Amino acid sequence: MMVEISVFAGAGQLAMALADLVAERLRRTPTLVLGLPTGRTPLGFYRQMVRIAREAGADFSRATTFNLDEFLGVGPEEPGSYRQYMERHLFRHINIDRRHIHFLDGAAQDPAAECERYEAEIRAAGGIDLQVLGIGGNGHIGFNEPAGSLVARTHVVRLQLQTRRANASLWGGDVTRVPRRALSMGMATILHARSVVLMATGAEKAACVSAMVDGPLTTRMPASFLQLHPEVHVMLDRAAARGLRRK
Ligand code: F6R
Repeated sequence: MMVEISVFAGAGQLAMALADLVAERLRRTPTLVLGLPTGRTPLGFYRQMVRIAREAGADFSRATTFNLDEFLGVGPEEPGSYRQYMERHLFRHINIDRRHIHFLDGAAQDPAAECERYEAEIRAAGGIDLQVLGIGGNGHIGFNEPAGSLVARTHVVRLQLQTRRANASLWGGDVTRVPRRALSMGMATILHARSVVLMATGAEKAACVSAMVDGPLTTRMPASFLQLHPEVHVMLDRAAARGLRRK
């Protein structure tokens, strides 16, 4: 398997190493096309990325971003949207050209057409160079939830209750306010990125991390398909790495 694994003493060190890695990739390729996640895990990474941008001048002016997913029925200005999360934690703090920020519009009139538009934009950008991922406690990547079958391309997904609970903090802590559906890049959209970095922290991710790395390929553990990818780097803290056979 081509998966490279790094285990860090804590989430802070992991965040710093990932921000350094992205900054280095950006130096090498100023026109880098980045795929980005939201959620709790990347908060430290974005904090470090903003710090590096301020202190060392990481230059995003020619870079392009595509976020993985957005809630369905939620417009880009709504506070609970992933678009606003990205504004708060990254975009407004770096020198990215706003025209290079790509996002699924959760409020699009025709969600299927919106998904096609997104795929076309990724193609037009020349594909994703570096896809940064988190992993759900149930093994989802993007919002590709465990199921009997998975979908290749960007599509409308139904969120599992566990996933909605994990997102409640964006919605005033009230799980009933978390949308039931979302738009998400599909498995092939993610797997076609030239390189992938997945980060996971905390004991609650240990079981899915070991299933992802050491388990069989199964649609019940969507992240296991990353084993097919030629260039995946898994960055973990000690707690998330606890279940791994090799460390
Ligand atoms: C978010 C996304 C999800 C999260 C995952 C982990 O854009 O695509 O796959 O990465 O749900 O979320 P946290 O980091 O909150 O545990």
